[in-house]
Parts: sequence; structure tokens; C-alpha cells
Amino acid sequence: MDFQLNEEHLMIQKAARDFAQTECLPGVIERDELQKFPKEQVEKLADLGFMGMMVDPKYGGAGMDAISYVLAMEEVSKVDASVSVAMSVNNSLVCWGLETFGSEEQKQKYLVPLAQGKKDGQLYIGAFLLSEPEAGSDASSQRTTAEDMGDHYLLNGTKNWITNGNSASVYLVIAQTDPARGSHGINAFIVDKNLPGVVVGAKENKMGIRGSDTHSILFNDVKVPKENRIGADGFGFTFAMKTLAGGRIGIASQALGIASGAYELALKYSKERKAFGKEIMHHQAIQFKLADMATKVEAARLLCLKAAWEKDQQKDYTLSSSMAKVFASEAAMWVSTEAVQIHGGYGFVKEYHVERLMRDAKITQIYEGTSEVQRIVISRAILK
Ligand code: CAA
Ligand code: FAD
Repeated sequence: MDFQLNEEHLMIQKAARDFAQTECLPGVIERDELQKFPKEQVEKLADLGFMGMMVDPKYGGAGMDAISYVLAMEEVSKVDASVSVAMSVNNSLVCWGLETFGSEEQKQKYLVPLAQGKKDGQLYIGAFLLSEPEAGSDASSQRTTAEDMGDHYLLNGTKNWITNGNSASVYLVIAQTDPARGSHGINAFIVDKNLPGVVVGAKENKMGIRGSDTHSILFNDVKVPKENRIGADGFGFTFAMKTLAGGRIGIASQALGIASGAYELALKYSKERKAFGKEIMHHQAIQFKLADMATKVEAARLLCLKAAWEKDQQKDYTLSSSMAKVFASEAAMWVSTEAVQIHGGYGFVKEYHVERLMRDAKITQIYEGTSEVQRIVISRAILK
């Protein structure tokens, strides 16, 4: 067993750290306050090859491994989780799903520009549309319908909470074609956002990741070409589940970054702030908090890297990605809350960053499968 990162991993980690400090940190408080999508930052991530990190270079990707992805996600998420969620969705839900299950024509047409994050010099990213107003955790109870009309599918329904909802050019949409077949009647489609009948709904006003553009998306008699279905008829639910297993490594790494970012800020502050005649790091109550924070961050990191390693080794990573996600997201919530506590009153105001990290941490326990859903996946795997 080797716990050492190789030269390439260290280079990618440093590139992501430098990017986060120079490109994401300036303006992060303002973007959060104004709910401004970090377009410039995402475009620069694309220039670094970080929007299609794991995609084969022959499809425009950077050809990196999943370990590199975890390292980059952690560094970006330490500073701006609104940037890293756009990165996570495009890399692990959109590009991975297309590269693994798409046809050669679909890859040439959609994956190549998505992996580069650009088309004709303009931002070109994707979104993943599974959740609906009445179907979140219970993902197979889809009400959006894709009626088979012979040469095309007719798409009708509403998707909720869609990350990159407005900024994406391409949607991967999960919809029900044959309700009688339950989860086996579901299909996945590539839908161009500019097709007639696609409507971007209201933007959500959120507690955290406020820079991320979360919208509902409505489909009114949208004609989706038959060749835009991904995989065989009825493959859509399996497509969603398999894709989400990898997506959960991305969100686990986002949670890890929020936790490690909060821990690093608290550690630094504890060395500067004085109370009762000494730096607060000399009070044992603060030392024990820092010890627990460091331990949780390290455990979360190891779980994320283990899941990524299994993915790189082509092993089944369904269990390890759910374990990483549930642990890292709960660590992020706990560590960021303690980071606010260590900052005292200063932790409660925006300038010190930890209150934003605490607000951002909460979503990692909800999206890409709530903590309860991860425990369903884990318990089913260990009990079977
Ligand atoms: N791989 C392959 N197939 C799978 C699978 C997997 N990981 N998980 C389930 N399946 C298959 C099952 O084998 C089953 O097939 P058979 O009928 O042939 O046996 C079929 O799918 C149905 O499976 P289940 O009976 O297990 O399904 P379920 O209804 O009990 O639901 C669940 C299981 C784990 C709760 C699932 O619904 C789930 O993951 N829900 C959460 C949804 C979610 O994560 N949404 C995230 C949206 S994207 C997002 O949030 C992005 C973002 O924020 C940035
Ligand atoms: P529900 O499923 O209604 O759950 C409510 C509560 O009940 C939760 O605590 C849940 O854990 C619990 N619960 C439900 N079923 C069970 C059970 N069987 N056992 C125990 N507890 C249970 N979705 C997308 O498809 N694409 C996106 O890009 C996307 N981005 C998002 C961005 C944001 C900011 C948000 C808030 C959500 C996003 N989502 C996205 C949706 C997200 O995946 C869902 O919100 C999530 O899966 C939970 O679904 P729900 O909100 O319907 O909650």
C-alpha cells in the first residue's frame, strides 16, 4: 500500500490550489452575496483542463485519473464551493456519463466540447436532470415523460433544483417512457437547451452555494431526436445510478474541501487570536477541537481517495463512494460549525469566510443523494 502522491498528482494539486487562491478567492464573498454565477472562474477552469479532467484526450479531455480529480476538487472547494459544484457536475455526471455510455456520434458532437468546457470560444457545460418536484430521493418515481413517437421522443414535465440550470448548454435528462415497466421504463436523453419547448424556470434563492445557478427546467412538447437517447431502451435509471456513484466521489471531495478549508482557517486564527493573555490555541478546549477537526478531515480524505482509487482500478466503487460522501459531508458540517465557534463573533460575519463554508457544507448532505440515501446504499451493500 502506498500513501504517497506521485509527481503528477502533486502538480495538479498545486495548480488547483494556486487557481483557487488567485482566481476564486477574490470576489468570493461578493459572488455569494449577489448569487452571481462564477462564469469567469469556470471558463478559466476549462482552460486548465479541469472541466473534463478524466475524459480521454481523444475526446478533448485532460486524461487524468480520479485521484487527481479528488485533489483538484478539494483545493477548489476550500475556497469556492459554487465553482466546484459546476466542476463536479460537468466532470462526473455529464462527461463521465457520456464517455462511458454514449454512442461515438454523441461523443463527437457533445462530449468533445463539454470536456473542453468551451465551444466556439464560449462557455459550454452540461447539467444532469434527475430530480423533480415529486421525485428526489425516490428517483425512480419520475413523472417527466418521454413518449416514443417513432423518429423522436416527446418530452414533457418539470425538473427541479438543477445545478448549472441556466449556464449549461446541454442537459442530460432522465424521463419515464413506459411507466408499466417502472425503473426499467426510464430513459436518459441528451437535450440541447435551445430546443423549442425548453424553458428555464425560476432561480432558487439558496442558503449556500449561492453562486451556483440552481433552476427548475420545464419541458413542453420538446422533440428530442431518437439518436439522443443514451444506451438501450430502458437504460435510463441504471445510467443515472451508475453515473451518480461517480458523482458522489465529486461531492464527497467537495465536502472534504469545505472541511479542510474551514479547518485551515480555524487553525490559523487560533494562532493569532489572544484571550486570557495567550493565543487561543493554548487553551485545551480549542486544541481538542482542532485535533478532532484534523482527524475528521484526514479520515474524509482517505475515504475519498480510496473511492477514487477503486474507480481508477475499474473496481466497483458504489459502496466506497457512498461511504466517502456520507462521512465527508457530515465532517464538513461539523468541522465548519466548529470553525465558526473558534472564530467567536468574527466567525459570524462574512469577512472571515467560515460562515460561508458552514452554509455551503449543508448542501453536501442533501444533493447527489441525501445522507439517508447513502445509508440506504451502504446498508444494502453490506447486508446483501
Ligand atoms: N448501479 C446499477 N444499477 C443500479 C444501481 C447502481 N448503483 N442502483 C440501483 N440499480 C438498479 C437496481 O439493480 C434495480 O434494477 P433491477 O430492478 O433490475 O434489480 C433498479 O436499478 C432499481 O433499483 P432499486 O430498487 O434499488 O431502486 P430504489 O427505488 O429502491 O432506489 C436509491 C434506490 C438508492 C434510493 C435511488 O433511488 C437513489 O440513489 N436516490 C437518490 C437520487 C439522487 O442521488 N439524486 C441526485 C440527483 S443529481 C444531483 O443532486 C446533482 C447535484 O446536486 C449537483
Ligand atoms: P426528499 O426525497 O423528499 O427527502 C426529504 C427527506 O426525507 C430527506 O431527509 C431524505 O433523506 C428523507 N428520506 C426520503 N426517503 C427516505 C427513505 N427511504 N429513508 C429514509 N429517509 C428518507 N438534482 C438533480 O437531478 N440535478 C441537479 O443538478 C441537482 N442539483 C441540486 C442543487 C441544489 C442546491 C439542491 C438543493 C438540490 C439539487 N438537486 C439536483 C436535487 C437533490 O438531489 C435532491 O434535493 C435530493 O436528492 C433530495 O430530494 P428531495 O429534495 O426531493 O427530498
